[in-house]
Amino acid sequence: MSAPRAAHITGWGHYAPEQILTNKDLEKLVDTTDEWIVSRTGMRERHVAAAHETTASMAAVAGLRAIATAGLAPDDIDLILVATLTPDYPMPSTAALVKEAIGNTRAAAMDVAAACSGFVYAYATAHAYVTSGLASNVLVIGAELLTRFLDYTDRNTCILFGDGAGAVVVSASDAPGGALGIELTTEPQGAYMIWLPSGGSRSPSSGETVARNEHFIRMEGRETYRFATRTLASTALASVRKAGLQPSDIDLFIPHQANIRIIEAVAKGLDLPMDKMFVNLDRYGNTSAASVPIALAEAVNSGRIKPGDRIVMVAFGAGFTSGAITLEWTADPARGLAGEAAVNPNDVHVRAPVDWDSVDPIPAALAELMRRPGGPSVPLDDVIPDEPRPATAGATQT
Ligand SMILES: CC(C)(COP(=O)(O)OP(=O)(O)OC[C@H]1O[C@@H](n2cnc3c(N)ncnc32)[C@H](O)[C@@H]1OP(=O)(O)O)[C@@H](O)C(=O)NCCC(=O)NCCS
Repeated sequence: MSAPRAAHITGWGHYAPEQILTNKDLEKLVDTTDEWIVSRTGMRERHVAAAHETTASMAAVAGLRAIATAGLAPDDIDLILVATLTPDYPMPSTAALVKEAIGNTRAAAMDVAAACSGFVYAYATAHAYVTSGLASNVLVIGAELLTRFLDYTDRNTCILFGDGAGAVVVSASDAPGGALGIELTTEPQGAYMIWLPSGGSRSPSSGETVARNEHFIRMEGRETYRFATRTLASTALASVRKAGLQPSDIDLFIPHQANIRIIEAVAKGLDLPMDKMFVNLDRYGNTSAASVPIALAEAVNSGRIKPGDRIVMVAFGAGFTSGAITLEWTADPARGLAGEAAVNPNDVHVRAPVDWDSVDPIPAALAELMRRPGGPSVPLDDVIPDEPRPATAGATQT
């Protein structure tokens, strides 16, 4: 069998939990202000998963929406890649759970770990599988449930991150288009600039690690900021040049949504106006591996991308990692909204363990915030969606 020449995005979709956490809500948790967060990051609000949701459930909804947009059936997918740093469990893979939840019987499924660059790394993997002939349709998902891994006493980190999932279907094609230039980098000297100390072989979780707050994300913000501003532009430029193009040839950049000032620095570094940068971090915060595919889906569905456009997806993250894909868009953008509407999150179910139940997954500080008058409007602990609320719940709602 001769290898297909190109790998195109044929489907895209995203999912964000209903619950919203605003900067004003965060003012009640840590010593911060809405004004500080907006001016230093550009963020205004982020989505927070409810107790019945997991990374796999959000990934499955986004994945099914991408499959619907592509006009495919779940069993047309022969490889499922889930990029995440917040898997449901260390094992099995989140991708294995997603495979069953979307109703696929034949795909190989695996997770990709490259932190916030994970979706771009997974996309590059999908491109390699498709162009080599090893797969015809690959479902690439970035999904994160970061709000369960944050220290709500640490104002340096807890204001930055949110939950959500985005996905694309990458399909074989003999027509030109798809990825034209790919650049991936890893710089281990930054390995402990963003990290999560416990839960791995170096320091398995225990009462002691929990007492030391080692189950939460830690970050050196300024060092990470320096790496991001230096690397995002250089990685994007390398991928654009591999495509035989110049930055001015690119119609839209889809950058990792970590900080508006980082995105502004990328635009400046590439000598481009900010209207070439897609931005939605004001409504999502940083959703790590989900950030680029959520932004891509919103960009296409809002008419910012049309067939023939050249776009660059570019990300950086823990590791330190970075990655960029320069690609030519070929799909009909109008398909996206119907694909999003085709999947109801309440119809998607992830297999649960037998004879085991988790502890309440919502961090105590978030749960406490939710119970306060003026707190977020939808109960986070709605374990069974659509079940009638207890009579007292209304008192805490806005
Ligand atoms: C985290 C980040 C927003 C901080 O912004 P900054 O302008 O660099 O701020 P600094 O870290 O220099 O801190 C400045 C001051 O604000 C304080 N500060 C930090 N977070 C604060 C908050 N949420 N509210 C109010 N003040 C805060 C700091 O304590 C510091 O006070 P000090 O001068 O008294 O020590 C920024 O460094 C950043 O975006 N880094 C990259 C993070 C990232 O992208 N992570 C994910 C990678 S995928």
